[in-house]
Amino acid sequence: MLPRCALGLCHVFMLVLCLSASEDFDWTKNDHGSFHYGTFPAGFSWGAGSSAYQTEGAWDKDGKGLSIWDVFSHKKDKVQQNNTGDSSCEGYYKVKDDVSLMKELKLNHYRFSISWPRLIPTGIKSDHINEKGIQYYDELIDHLLENNITPIVTLYHWDLPQVLQEKYGGWQNISMVTHFNEFANLCFERFGNRVKYWITFNNPWSVAVEGYETGEHAPGLRLRGTGAYRAAHHIIKAHAQVWHTYNTQWRGKQKGQVGISLSADWGEPVDISNQKDIEAAERYVQFYLGWFATPIFHGDYPQVMKDFIGRKSTQQGLGGSRLPTFSTQEKSYIKGTCDFLGVGHFTTRYITQKNNPSGPSSSSSSSSYFTDRDLAELVDPRWPDPGSEWLYSVPWGFRRLLNFIKSQYGNPLIYVTENGVSEKMFCTELCDDWRIQYYKDYINEMLKAIKDGVSVKGYTAWSLLDKFEWDEGYSERFGLYYVDFRNKNKPRYPKASVQFYKRIISSNGFPNQREVENWRKKAVETCSSSNQLLAAEEQRSTAANILRLIHDPLTSHMEMVTEIVVPTVCTLSILLCAIFLMFLLRKQN
Ligand code: NOJ
Repeated sequence: MLPRCALGLCHVFMLVLCLSASEDFDWTKNDHGSFHYGTFPAGFSWGAGSSAYQTEGAWDKDGKGLSIWDVFSHKKDKVQQNNTGDSSCEGYYKVKDDVSLMKELKLNHYRFSISWPRLIPTGIKSDHINEKGIQYYDELIDHLLENNITPIVTLYHWDLPQVLQEKYGGWQNISMVTHFNEFANLCFERFGNRVKYWITFNNPWSVAVEGYETGEHAPGLRLRGTGAYRAAHHIIKAHAQVWHTYNTQWRGKQKGQVGISLSADWGEPVDISNQKDIEAAERYVQFYLGWFATPIFHGDYPQVMKDFIGRKSTQQGLGGSRLPTFSTQEKSYIKGTCDFLGVGHFTTRYITQKNNPSGPSSSSSSSSYFTDRDLAELVDPRWPDPGSEWLYSVPWGFRRLLNFIKSQYGNPLIYVTENGVSEKMFCTELCDDWRIQYYKDYINEMLKAIKDGVSVKGYTAWSLLDKFEWDEGYSERFGLYYVDFRNKNKPRYPKASVQFYKRIISSNGFPNQREVENWRKKAVETCSSSNQLLAAEEQRSTAANILRLIHDPLTSHMEMVTEIVVPTVCTLSILLCAIFLMFLLRKQN
């Protein structure tokens, strides 16, 4: 996911198709327009996902320790509108309600994450284990299983215990490997009799780049050119150690699988006849996905990362590369530590070559992960972008990414762990036709990829609920279910996409055009009643807010201006303009 600063570059029109070499995927025949009717292999697993900090709330309840996100979101101006995950969806108190939403969807699996500081408040196992935290996840897991929903559990979805950040510098410090391994081991011990799918890390790219390079995410450090590489290095080692722990101590009796969830946008060369652009696009994906996947599948960083970062470090006059190195033993210890690969994918970029010179004159602080890549990212302004600034709907990029994974990493088992689209907060619209379109097209490209021979075994819609969207706060809604965050009870309402996704699940794909069109029509029809419900509820809570504000003169005045006066003045102005125009037209006639 592109940082906002880089997005300024992106609004250039490009329409080019890619020609790239692969043994079995015919890249030239990727007809972007065609829809493939057909079903998924029997046993394909359909799910939806969430993560602890984004949905649980109860940030300081029942003995939970602080995470870096608790602390970061409480600092001023780190998150849109200074939102926090303090209560979020109150998922901690709504296990039964939420599992019934999953039942409604007929999900086969549910992906959630365990909050490390809820289980181990300081992050250090020998300090204290919080049995109430264990109890919460016990209940969630049991309830899922009673309802025939397979839990897929992420161990690290970004909420590092704050004590580990303060004491050791978080993922900058190698000691995280041991602490994380102890936490993982505790999870295997307590939940492994029932959980068979474990994901060590969710999207480590974001942890490293946004947490330690740009500082947009917790812990908010800006260690440009080195911080992300060091964090990633320790994360990869921690992943490998946890995989080995499971492999040697638990696999025999528990018979589960351990993977990692990596996120990547697809990168398409701007000019397919330009070798430099082709290489730049490949570099984009290698710096994104390959950074983590290549050590895990092949034992070391991608050659292109070693070459580029190494050369730039030399030009800067540094003694060694800013990219850390693995020893021979480490390489063989890390290689092959993946029973399945989780893939998070949302969008695509066009890529072109762009040199970022780095010489002894340029200080090392001007170098960064982004400049190391020597490329520029572009988007086609005609790509739909209904929600998040960075998220353009480009379904064909998904098929290409999946084929890339197949050819690069020896056709591993893949679970799509995140895919979905957001809308902006101000569109409180349950009839999310654009989301239906996004899911329809992306899931269809995944089906095509399976026909190409990619081993995709499951798909996780992101996300089950609207939730805390990191530095964007609650301003971006990814949910299949709408959450009314203004209401203390955080009620959930189904969006139209719930109906549509449910049909895909029950048919295990797309049976034929007539039916699929019909699903869509019906979904949009039925959502209008939920829309009315929500509108009525919103009117009620707005009225309650106005009453409350009348008792609070200062805020009352400010909010009346934005909530009542501004819309009234706008409406009156539009009316006056219309009358004036009519008057002019009459005069002309
Ligand atoms: C990836 C993250 O893992 C997830 O937590 C987030 O909600 C999505 N990106 C959308 O930004």
